[in-house]
Amino acid sequence: MKIAIIGGGPAGLYSAILLKKQRPEAAITVYERNRADDTFGFGVVFSDATLDNFEKYDAPSYRRITEQFAYWDDIAVHFRGTVHRVGGNGFCGCSRRTLLLILQERARELGVAQLFEADIEDEARFADADLVVLADGINSRFRDKYIGHFQPEVDLRSNKFAWMGSTRPLDAFTFIFQETEWGPFIAHAYQYEMGHSTWIFETDPETFKRAGLEGLDERQSADRMAGIFGWFLEGHQLLINRSMWRNFPMIRSKRWVKDNMVLLGDAKATAHFSIGSGTKLAMEDAIALADAMKHAPTVEAALRQYEEGRREEVEKTQHAADVSLVWFEHVDRFWDFDPVQFAFGVMTRAKAITYDNLTLRAPDFVAEVDRAFARQVRGKGFDVDVGKPDAPMFQPLRLREMEVNNRAVVSPMCMYSASDGVPGDFHLVHYGSRAIGGAGLIFTEMTCVSRDARITPGCTGLWNDEQQAAWRRIVDFVHANSAAKIALQLGHAGRKGATKLMWDGMDRPLEQGGWDVISASPIPYFPDSQVPREMDRAAMDAVKAAFVQAAERGEACGFDMLELHCAHGYLLASFISPLTNQRTDEYGGSLANRMRFPLEVFEALRAAWPAHKPMSVRISATDWTEGGITGDDAVDIARAFAEAGVDLVDVSTGQTVRDAQPIYGRMFQTPFSDQVRNEARVATMCVGNITTSDQVNTILAAGRADLVALGRPHLVDPFFTLKAAAWYGADGVFCPPQYLPGKEQIFRNSVRDRQDFDDLKIKAKPKTRAELKAEATKPLAAE
Ligand SMILES: Cc1cc2nc3c(=O)[nH]c(=O)nc-3n(C[C@H](O)[C@H](O)[C@H](O)COP(=O)(O)OP(=O)(O)OC[C@H]3O[C@@H](n4cnc5c(N)ncnc54)[C@H](O)[C@@H]3O)c2cc1C
Ligand SMILES: Cc1cc2nc3c(=O)[nH]c(=O)nc-3n(C[C@H](O)[C@H](O)[C@H](O)COP(=O)(O)O)c2cc1C
Repeated sequence: MKIAIIGGGPAGLYSAILLKKQRPEAAITVYERNRADDTFGFGVVFSDATLDNFEKYDAPSYRRITEQFAYWDDIAVHFRGTVHRVGGNGFCGCSRRTLLLILQERARELGVAQLFEADIEDEARFADADLVVLADGINSRFRDKYIGHFQPEVDLRSNKFAWMGSTRPLDAFTFIFQETEWGPFIAHAYQYEMGHSTWIFETDPETFKRAGLEGLDERQSADRMAGIFGWFLEGHQLLINRSMWRNFPMIRSKRWVKDNMVLLGDAKATAHFSIGSGTKLAMEDAIALADAMKHAPTVEAALRQYEEGRREEVEKTQHAADVSLVWFEHVDRFWDFDPVQFAFGVMTRAKAITYDNLTLRAPDFVAEVDRAFARQVRGKGFDVDVGKPDAPMFQPLRLREMEVNNRAVVSPMCMYSASDGVPGDFHLVHYGSRAIGGAGLIFTEMTCVSRDARITPGCTGLWNDEQQAAWRRIVDFVHANSAAKIALQLGHAGRKGATKLMWDGMDRPLEQGGWDVISASPIPYFPDSQVPREMDRAAMDAVKAAFVQAAERGEACGFDMLELHCAHGYLLASFISPLTNQRTDEYGGSLANRMRFPLEVFEALRAAWPAHKPMSVRISATDWTEGGITGDDAVDIARAFAEAGVDLVDVSTGQTVRDAQPIYGRMFQTPFSDQVRNEARVATMCVGNITTSDQVNTILAAGRADLVALGRPHLVDPFFTLKAAAWYGADGVFCPPQYLPGKEQIFRNSVRDRQDFDDLKIKAKPKTRAELKAEATKPLAAE
């Protein structure tokens, strides 16, 4: 077998090593355009988990790599004169040059031919090769040559960054967030060998310009950085080596394989430097390729298997990198945060690290985060313990005069079980049990303001006395038997009305017994859905009046809060999204015009709803569709509602059009809540695939939302909050007297259960290499 590898970076060399081990008889050649010891960059970083993988696949190179590594366990966050250190991270750094020399040496030992100063222009010279590996890096000539086939998508990010080095010793992975007269600069720095550290500087394009970096050469810009970070560099130099400022390209390729050619490493996909995974991904690609070559019967099958098997992992890493880079791009959102909350945000930005796992490895840090959170709550006039506070989830919140005693919320969820809009016994038990279960705030399902405002025949309404009395019974029960507050969500289905019950076909039009539907524009939801009537002014007035009447009935029921449903493609949302609003009058066109009717309704409700009671709006912060609402629009939407007096923006997404492409995942809508809260400066509630109290605490402690709603988790567990309170030892949580023995038991057992769980986790976690090294070098205690 003959294998040609274009590119002698980590991907090319490691694939040569693994393939040669597997097929000693194969003729494998690496073609590298540079000289053997001619390399850019400073250090590379691997996690312990990545090193474990290297050990498994090639022990000799692993041993040599790890002999050369600098280890560290802590991440240090410097911000506004403070430093927060968090241990237990387990990372290693090594010089990129050393890494490449080790890999070259190992490849040579195994009999891989390496041709340096061989710039390959045309792969046609490898016509007789069975496999051609394209590991030619981020600017891959061959990916571009077959651009129509590989279909790369290059997302050039807005921030500027430059890779430099320094002689400043570091004992932690160090983030420095530095305010300057021009704006914020960030340094990501780590040591990779004795006396050498990598420094990546990052800043937004405006700050870059203001700082005059545009016209400077490498040395001059390094001097400028040395000026900014001089206080930390302590006289150490900044080193340069192709340290030009650039914009990071996030690259994703639709295809990785063409005939017998395969893209590896940066050539196929990149991951932002802030998660330190570029070299890791490149070497793990090599592992995946070697695995596929081992098991598949032909090269063609192996390449298919490589692409199919590896894609998900690469996309997961790229998603984490995306989330992380967006955090750094928007660091100004958090600039006025308490430093410890800021540091918590840095640590938890990419979702992998959470409140609970930080509690396990850095309990003092989390205790400080809790205290800072409690101090903020105390600053709002609550008499909470700031010395030994409850976890953020169990801290109270006030909206106007309504106080909720914890931040877990039952999200609005249609039960499709009303008859003629009247909630029945099912609803009493449903809402009642969730209130008893401890949530701080309960939302009703979307309750419709008139008969023809309903989504389905099973939706609840609030347009007549019978419905009002039925809701009053539920509200009274909640108030009499729990500490929960209850909010009424009012809505109008618009073009998604007259559809079947969820279990008969979500959003599908009723075959019989339907009613006429209205919307901003006459566009049906499904091609076979009813075509809605475009609303005229009279229809708008009628709808507004129906909302106001329903709100007045809501007040008569005793609801504590009112939410206006402006999300999910229902009537008011259909005005806001350009995908569903194609009007040419003053209610269509610009966002300000599209907001006009929803704001009118909101203002009418605000005037009718008692001034001491809060109001929220639910919005879809993105339509997940080209040309639809984006996160930036959501900030403007939130601002407009805030100016009209909204107290809380309930940030959901999507459901506007049926062919949207949401990117699901844990807490997938939380970044939108984060953006709205910290850019529009309005209180938010986030929701969407949040399933654990650990996630709730992570979101709250990082300042990404003020309340956290859970929908589906509450469907199967009304006692979500009480159980979480037991886990965190927050014994102030409400429990009705009838259930107190149960509460006492779960609180007693939880202390032990949590201890056992933590012990298990600690035992299951192998020691990091940094910990092992520290133990090995610890002086023996005197006998
Ligand atoms: C300027 C810069 C500095 C960096 N510094 C660091 C750092 O300090 N730490 C870190 O972790 N990561 C760094 N990275 C990222 C990291 O280098 C990559 O993520 C990782 O090296 C990817 O490995 P690779 O093998 O896919 O590509 P590369 O390491 O880029 O290797 C590709 C190789 O192919 C060669 N090549 C390209 N075209 C041809 C051709 N036509 N013929 C022959 N050879 C060719 C190139 O010379 C190169 O050696 C840096 C990236 C850049 C652009
Ligand atoms: C059965 C069901 C009914 C729902 N009904 C409503 C509703 O009436 N109003 C609303 O705003 N959202 C509604 N939603 C959306 C939820 O409030 C929530 O935003 C969504 O389920 C995502 O949260 P989760 O992942 O915690 O379930 C409903 C969701 C479900 C599962």
